[in-house]
Amino acid sequence: MHKEQTIRPMPRLFFDMMSLSFRIRDLLKNPHKVLTPVGLRPGMTVVDYGCGPGSYTIAAAQIIGASGKIYGVDVHPQAIKSVQRKARAQGMKHVEALLADGYDSGVPANGADCVLLMDIIHMVSDPNALLAEVRRILKPDGFVYVQVHHIAPEQAKTMLQKGQFSISKHDGMDIWASSKT
Ligand SMILES: C[S@@+](CC[C@H](N)C(=O)[O-])C[C@H]1O[C@@H](n2cnc3c(N)ncnc32)[C@H](O)[C@@H]1O
Repeated sequence: MHKEQTIRPMPRLFFDMMSLSFRIRDLLKNPHKVLTPVGLRPGMTVVDYGCGPGSYTIAAAQIIGASGKIYGVDVHPQAIKSVQRKARAQGMKHVEALLADGYDSGVPANGADCVLLMDIIHMVSDPNALLAEVRRILKPDGFVYVQVHHIAPEQAKTMLQKGQFSISKHDGMDIWASSKT
């Protein structure tokens, strides 16, 4: 775990503006449809790392169903409140929102079938610390799905490889990878 690194969440106003822009994004690109090719299945344990206001947390929760479990992890307290509010509104009991402490997600070790990194890998100051935490929480046969924004996919692939992941599939801005260890 990597608690020693403090991460300052973005100002509240930025978070609110980002949330508004995601509402428009989600109208143009349905989050459920975005996640369809990822390979999530009913009953899986999934972590939406850097979940923001929770568009993909809730969509993934619908796909895995009540027999599964999803953790929405973020360093921003507003993200946690937003995910909790959305899950409550839909009566979802298999959604848990966790406020990350540095690069410590609070997710139990070796339990996740899939970790989603949607539009986050470009913004972390220490990708190796993030990816070490992702390796800690993944099951040995689990996988990470990265949706790349704002950087070239090749740059994201290099980050993953430096973080001890093997690329299993790459399709445009979508990357699937599994832990080498
Ligand atoms: C651009 S937003 C994407 C939100 C969401 N994944 C989506 O696509 O709708 C990135 C999110 O990652 C969070 N974040 C940044 N660094 C993080 C870290 N080290 N651990 C957890 N969350 C982080 C931010 O607070 C923000 O909510």
